[in-house]
Amino acid sequence: MTKAKNVAIFISGRGSNMEALMHNCKDDPLINFCLVFSNNASAQGLEIAQNFGVETKAFNKKEFESADAFDDAIIALLREKEIDLVCLAGYMAIVSAKVIHAFPNKIINIHPSLLPSFPGLNVQQKAIDYGVKVAGCTVHFIDEKVDHGPIITQKSVEVNHNDTQETLTEKILVQEHKIYSEALKLFCHDKLEIIDRIVHVNNI
Ligand code: GAR
Repeated sequence: MTKAKNVAIFISGRGSNMEALMHNCKDDPLINFCLVFSNNASAQGLEIAQNFGVETKAFNKKEFESADAFDDAIIALLREKEIDLVCLAGYMAIVSAKVIHAFPNKIINIHPSLLPSFPGLNVQQKAIDYGVKVAGCTVHFIDEKVDHGPIITQKSVEVNHNDTQETLTEKILVQEHKIYSEALKLFCHDKLEIIDRIVHVNNI
């Protein structure tokens, strides 16, 4: 029988994606939420995680002598907890190549655009300013380029002429919560295979 995967979630703020993952996957026997890490000790999501009974840790690059020492602390923490998968959920920092290489194809991210359109920050406003008629969100494995790695799943939403950054962000967020939970389940049920950057999905 497949063994449950130990999952860590990395957040920097509100943590609504983290909360959706924990809520939607709480009864899945193959998903074991072990750790929530934040690079921001006052992230709202830390309290939500504690209410779910999940251990939290928070530390910041500035507390370390070097970026390398910070990376070593992250890697040690993930190894100590025997983490099988890291879900970046509103983690507003670049994950270094060192950490990515320590956990190859074991770090996934949610991004509020239809990649490869609109990588980076403030992407809902950029989508409105560009005049796109369809926006959306993407769950992908991370690689060394920002918002670039193999795509697991995407969901589109319509952009109407009266959408503002707030309304579009909210519409996309509703879909983020759904597709991130689906992607997490697919990973933990060993349904994802990457061949030449294409993610092949075998439905559960
Ligand atoms: C989400 O919209 C997520 O897609 C985005 O930040 C928000 C975090 O909200 N992430 C990025 O932009 C990463 N580049 P949450 O803390 O409520 O999940």
